[in-house]
Amino acid sequence: MINRIIRRRKQTASSAELLDMNNIPHHVAIIMDGNGRWAKRRGMPRAYGHHAGANTLKRIVIAATELGIKVLTVYAFSTENWKRPVDEVTYIMKLMDEYLGKNLLELNENNVRLHFIGDMSRLHATLQQKFIAAEAEMANNTGLVLNVAVNYGGRLEMVQAMQHVAEDVRKGTLLPADIDEAVLSRYLYTAPDNDVDLLIRPGADKRVSNFLLWQMAYAEFWFTDLCWPDFTKDTLIDAILSFQGRERRFGGLK
Ligand code: FPP
Repeated sequence: MINRIIRRRKQTASSAELLDMNNIPHHVAIIMDGNGRWAKRRGMPRAYGHHAGANTLKRIVIAATELGIKVLTVYAFSTENWKRPVDEVTYIMKLMDEYLGKNLLELNENNVRLHFIGDMSRLHATLQQKFIAAEAEMANNTGLVLNVAVNYGGRLEMVQAMQHVAEDVRKGTLLPADIDEAVLSRYLYTAPDNDVDLLIRPGADKRVSNFLLWQMAYAEFWFTDLCWPDFTKDTLIDAILSFQGRERRFGGLK
């Protein structure tokens, strides 16, 4: 047992040592998938998996700050997740509330700037208030920007951006001829740090699931069969090592 722990520590040290600290992805996005399957495999209800997933999120936020990632965007609840049984939806909402209650202090101590992205209008008013209060409390922090996507959909984000653009055109503060990619991107939830460098999806599925559609135009994708509750700092390091081995051409030639 002790040998196994020592072996793991050595592995961690060596893969971390391989990282090029000058080429850490600026913006990492994670689809925290596989919580339900992880729980089912253990004969437990899906809620058990979400609870474990929230603990993983706590560890990965700390790992991201240690690794020098500047922006971390995590998919906690999509605009499509309302189709799930009401008990599961209620549990995930409660979990987010608890997560804030338990981790706000530590996030603050780690200089994290919390930001909720998505359409909050469908959430319970009390939860909306807690999100706003948490954001305000951390607004002056200068470390990792942690975007938590709740009732988020990439298509909805674009629709809402268009609505705001149309409003500004109607008010006369924006001319249609001035609308370009840079202008439109200012209306996104993730502005000004929009572009995702690395998308990580655990849980074996290989799809984007309506996450950050605009922002992922030139993201590098990394998938793992591990479920989110089993995701560790070592897994994050593996994903970054893979990112560092890619040649990013952004449509050009090397
Ligand atoms: C996807 O796994 C996970 C979710 C829809 C919920 C993610 C929520 C958390 C990680 C915890 C709460 C978040 C915060 C911010 C504290 P799945 O249920 O689709 O898993 P499956 O594909 O195995 O069914």
